[in-house]
Amino acid sequence: MRLDKYLANMGTGTRTEVKNMIRKGNVSVNGEVVKSPEMKVDENADEVCVNGEVVGFVSNQYIMLHKPAGVVSATEDTKDPTVIDLIDSPIRKQLFPVGRLDKDTEGLLLITNDGELSHQLLSPKKHVSKVYYARIEGNVSKEDVKAFSEGLDLGDFTSMPANLTVLRAGEESEIEVEIFEGKFHQVKRMFEAVGKKVVYLKRLSMGSLSLDETLAPGEYRLLTEQEIEQLRRG
Ligand code: URA
Repeated sequence: MRLDKYLANMGTGTRTEVKNMIRKGNVSVNGEVVKSPEMKVDENADEVCVNGEVVGFVSNQYIMLHKPAGVVSATEDTKDPTVIDLIDSPIRKQLFPVGRLDKDTEGLLLITNDGELSHQLLSPKKHVSKVYYARIEGNVSKEDVKAFSEGLDLGDFTSMPANLTVLRAGEESEIEVEIFEGKFHQVKRMFEAVGKKVVYLKRLSMGSLSLDETLAPGEYRLLTEQEIEQLRRG
């Protein structure tokens, strides 16, 4: 693999930043300073150093982000800021969000470089629980609770039974809903199916992981060992 590509993949910097580092003489391969970004390295055999520090595979990182509205759940976007733009990490380039929240949705988003755990949490076969708080235009009724518990016809598919709890009913209602799948716009579509509109949506939990309410929107922290272990155990 090209040296600049390798360093960029390892999260050392963008391709341009990495090229500049190499040209300045900050990078060595097997003890020799190398100034050509296109030099080929064997990532399994060569020792690559930046400013004397060996670049190696970093262990996994797990970040709980309180996603604010207005950012997209992607690693890159040409138009909008992404959730990864909010994270300051030496391995930022390797991080990705586990699943998606809509641009206007807030709340819990796990960000990691652990593909295996991400797969485990997102697998449609695993039916991982996701709990959302929402404000709904209209009076959420007992009939809605029943309809959610029976599964809703959303046109292209029927949703699995969901647990809907009404916290406050009125012209604008407050609810919590637990779903076990994660289709595009799922919660919004479920309320549309009963003739109501979600006006605010926030994810509170995913599997065993709950949003740390001390985090303001836009803030994040690393997961504790216990949180990681519980997520892995499913
Ligand atoms: N359901 C939605 O409609 N939007 C989200 O962001 C998450 C779940």
